[in-house]
Amino acid sequence: MKILVLNGPNLNLLDKRPVEEYGTLTLNEIESNVRQNFPAHSFDFFQSNIEGELINKIQSASEKFDGLIINPAGYSHTSIAIKDALDICSIRKIEVHLSNLAVRENFRHTSLTASSCDGYIAGFRENSYNAAVYLLEKIVGK
Ligand code: DQA
Repeated sequence: MKILVLNGPNLNLLDKRPVEEYGTLTLNEIESNVRQNFPAHSFDFFQSNIEGELINKIQSASEKFDGLIINPAGYSHTSIAIKDALDICSIRKIEVHLSNLAVRENFRHTSLTASSCDGYIAGFRENSYNAAVYLLEKIVGK
């Protein structure tokens, strides 16, 4: 499978964010961990703090990838534009979060983007990403 992994704002600074929410790995370490665990698949990892850059990637994903894993970060709670782009994107999509949003502040309880994906995984730190790859294997079947 070819899998696009998109990461939203501030995930480039995980080493400066609360360990109790996000764990101890940097985004680069999360990427290496996923690549090591799933050598049979090819991954394109992309992080941006800019909403439009994430939307551009989502818009072109259907032509190039079999599946999409997205952590929209703070945009999960605010971005109708990312939601709309996900709705248009025809490949399988899984939203992931490092932290368990259900036990955090109320404003994190609603994800506008999750309902535009096939499913949603939150709270397992870097293993949220690993679980998403495992589930893409099941639902894409490649
Ligand atoms: C996050 C959760 C979001 O609420 C937050 O804004 C993030 C990271 C997570 O992975 O737990 O930046 O998406």
